[in-house]
Amino acid sequence: MAHDHCCGHDHDRDEDEGMLLIERPRRLRGRALLREAVAETRLHPDMLIQPHFVLPGGGRREEIPSMPGIARESADRLVKTVEADLKLGLRHVLLFGLPAAKSPEAASAVDPDGVVPRAVRALKAAFGADLLVTTDVCVCAYTDHGHCGVVRDGEILNDESLPLIAGMALAHAQAGADMVAPSDMMDGRVGAIRITLDDHGLSGTPIMSYAAKYASAYYGPFREAADSAPAFGDRRAYQMDPRNAREAVREVLLDVDEGADIVMVKPALAYLDVIRRVREEVRLPVACYNVSGEFSMVKAAARAGWVDEGRVVRENLVAMVRAGADLVITYHGREALREGWLR
Ligand code: PBG
Ligand code: ZN
Repeated sequence: MAHDHCCGHDHDRDEDEGMLLIERPRRLRGRALLREAVAETRLHPDMLIQPHFVLPGGGRREEIPSMPGIARESADRLVKTVEADLKLGLRHVLLFGLPAAKSPEAASAVDPDGVVPRAVRALKAAFGADLLVTTDVCVCAYTDHGHCGVVRDGEILNDESLPLIAGMALAHAQAGADMVAPSDMMDGRVGAIRITLDDHGLSGTPIMSYAAKYASAYYGPFREAADSAPAFGDRRAYQMDPRNAREAVREVLLDVDEGADIVMVKPALAYLDVIRRVREEVRLPVACYNVSGEFSMVKAAARAGWVDEGRVVRENLVAMVRAGADLVITYHGREALREGWLR
């Protein structure tokens, strides 16, 4: 007997047992515990890295208007914040410094008593091996012109910048940083840092390189937070063109050759394809940076009541990990753990 079906065709049908469909993907979605059992992608707190903006001095805390919940803090306040974060299971931080003084040659960037080395020592003294401290290595917050290298006649010089960048990494590593993360995009800086660290008995300090870092409009809120906007021009002469993905593989493989231990793609959400390609090219861990603009857009939409913040954050983090990221640097970290958004 013929029956009406949704598709309008007359399939073989048993009166009592419904359509003969062998494959029914919905079977695995019918129970919450079964969905958990077959999930292909999982988020774990140890995959998250929480960025911090460190101020010189003591007793200071300044909210960042464009990044709700994120603040600039002096090292003493940072220790308190990290202590609370550790209780949530957030055990890896990335430090950015806001130095007391900027100069053309970024002298404060290599100061062993600079803002970041001091914060590293404070965190290591307080938490030791219970906390992983990675430092961002780049001079743009330390130069008066705001570029990520040495500038002469309006040009950002590559090779002249390398000793400065390597010196900054050395100051951080000697202060006890567990890992250094160069974000400048000068050619050859991973190799320069590796040689400098090795020459100073720090061959065990890993380098997480911002290997494929794009010239992105998504860095807007960060530049306010870190006071690192370029005073002239933009960063397109050293950061990557967003139209290029093949070139990301080239950048990544160079950094691997120079001794990078972890390679990063940045930003994350608009570059999920790049994360996937990089994942397929290297055997190293891959990190991605869920940058300030990506964070602020979610915050703004959530505050307007237009999206469910927890579900959007989870979906975004899942997307980065599904694309191939092993580590995710994200400003959502603290709230995601506090509110249980990873589950
Ligand atoms: C500095 C640096 C930037 C970010 C990390 N390190 C900004 C830039 O390159 O202009 C961006 C981080 C973010 O937007 O969250 N080299
Ligand atoms: Zn920079």
